[in-house]
Amino acid sequence: MDFYLKTHNAPRNRLSFSAPVKLFHWITVLLLIIQFTIGWLMPDVHKDTKPIGLISLHVSIGSLIVLVVLIRLAWRLTHPTPPEPSALPPLLQAVARATHWLLYALLVAFPLMGWANASSRGWQVSLFGLVPLPPLSPTGSVLGHEMGDMHQVFAWVLLVAVGLHISAALFHHFIIKDDTLRRMLPRRR
Ligand code: HEM
Ligand code: HEM
Repeated sequence: MDFYLKTHNAPRNRLSFSAPVKLFHWITVLLLIIQFTIGWLMPDVHKDTKPIGLISLHVSIGSLIVLVVLIRLAWRLTHPTPPEPSALPPLLQAVARATHWLLYALLVAFPLMGWANASSRGWQVSLFGLVPLPPLSPTGSVLGHEMGDMHQVFAWVLLVAVGLHISAALFHHFIIKDDTLRRMLPRRR
């Protein structure tokens, strides 16, 4: 357990994520909570279902999530990240990094599956009816239809990955007692 307790002597602000990274992280969390709730509350989607009401909201918020995640990824890839707050063994560090990249991959691929499905149903995908977005598959496409099934399955894959991620964050905070969670939280004055 020694390595758990060995923390960097670096000042807190050098270890903390930057404000935009924190903002993107927590906006994504908020949008995902809203989106999962709508996904499960909205009426079942059948062959002739029209994209109205909660379904239309689901499509718009889903498209917004794609946009936010792409901006977030672009920022992440062009800015340095702070060093790890605790001296975890290299294997655990690699697992943490791999989980984060898996989350990014799911955050991009998973909504695109829903989008391809919406396009195959002939729906015009747009951001709140204001910004029309291009179709990702032709109307009636079999692949687009299958993407709808994948979208339902991957909802659970994303939830399990997020569950592991949250458990790890809480483990760091309450068991290892390092700054991992604090560095993703708003800075206290
Ligand atoms: C990260 C963003 C998204 C989340 C968390 C999400 C979540 C969900 C959930 C939980 C369901 C219900 C699955 C079930 O009934 O078991 C669903 C269904 C659906 N979503 Fe999404 N979704 C997202 C993005 C999108 C986007 C961007 C679109 C379209 C532009 C979309 C279109 C659909 C459609 C068409 C269905 C019905 C699929 C079917 O029943 O065949 N979703 N989504
Ligand atoms: C809704 C789902 C969530 C998703 C999709 C998500 C996604 C991510 C991703 C992709 C990163 C990597 C950041 C980077 O290095 O670029 C990250 C970091 C982090 N997340 Fe989340 N997160 C979620 C929820 C949460 C929650 C609820 C907590 C707190 C309990 C949390 C705590 C953290 C912490 C502490 C880090 C920084 C880890 C480190 O220092 O390496 N996340 N998250």
